[in-house]
Amino acid sequence: MNLPLALFLAFFNLLPDAHTATYYVKGDNCNNCCRGLPGPQGVPGLPGLHGGRGQDGNTGPKGEKGETGLIGQTGPQGVAGEDGNKGHRGRKGVKGECGPPGAAGPKGDLGPQGPPGDKGQKGYKGEKGARPPRIAFTVSRSEPLGPVMQKTPVTFDKIHTNQGDSFDVYSSHFICKINGTYFFTVHVLSAENRTAYGWIMLNNDHQMAFHGDAQAFHGTGSNTIILHLVREDHVWVQLNENSSLLNHFSSFSGHILFED
Ligand SMILES: *[C@@H]1O[C@H](CO)[C@@H](O)[C@H](O)[C@H]1NC(C)=O
Ligand SMILES: *[C@@H]1O[C@H](CO)[C@@H](O)[C@H](O)[C@H]1NC(C)=O
Ligand SMILES: *[C@@H]1O[C@H](CO)[C@@H](O)[C@H](O)[C@H]1NC(C)=O
Repeated sequence: MNLPLALFLAFFNLLPDAHTATYYVKGDNCNNCCRGLPGPQGVPGLPGLHGGRGQDGNTGPKGEKGETGLIGQTGPQGVAGEDGNKGHRGRKGVKGECGPPGAAGPKGDLGPQGPPGDKGQKGYKGEKGARPPRIAFTVSRSEPLGPVMQKTPVTFDKIHTNQGDSFDVYSSHFICKINGTYFFTVHVLSAENRTAYGWIMLNNDHQMAFHGDAQAFHGTGSNTIILHLVREDHVWVQLNENSSLLNHFSSFSGHILFED
């Protein structure tokens, strides 16, 4: 029990008769009653019970706007939205730098042959070879000839040597194969009391004569020539008309001295 209530109860029980006496004095039907002296003033009554809730007052005026609050924390990331519409085509970009050269391609086909080049300058003369080409021949007749009725090539049927194959056995001509300088010699023996007169020929030209006189019974004739020849030159022996040769004594020889 708290202190204020205890004091209140003590005061209430102290003067119960005084309260009753006061009530008695106020009675209307008792004008003749003797009156006592007014009693002492009674103790103040107990406080009344709390009244009911009053009606709400009028709404007050709107308050001033408060200060801006602190920024709240970042919320969680939202769900990804749907794809948007296709954008417009952008402008053409700036041309990029050249890239590095690519790897070498496969080798191409052989091209067509070009035209012949210009003729080059003449080179220096080379040194002499160790030895000249092996060209040398000796041929002779084994049969008599003539007297011939016209200019006649002397044929030689016996081949003693023909190194280099430059003496042609079918035509009885020496045919040059290598440009160079050549040495030739002819020797003839005439038939008894006949002339043996002829020429060493270069192609169709008479180069060198030989003569065996009929007055010498068996006249002999011979000659020698050194000629510069080029390929396809022919060197041969021609017998004049009315000349004749004895067998076994006429020969034709030649060899190269040096090539060009
Ligand atoms: C050749 O001439 C000589 C002298 O003149 C003569 O003796 C000889 O009989 C002649 N021979 C021929 C085959 O004619
Ligand atoms: C041989 O001589 C001819 C005529 O001068 C010349 O055309 C040719 O080229 C020569 N040949 C050689 C291999 O020197
Ligand atoms: C042929 O040669 C002989 C002997 O040398 C001679 O006697 C004769 O007259 C010559 N004939 C002609 C046509 O030259």
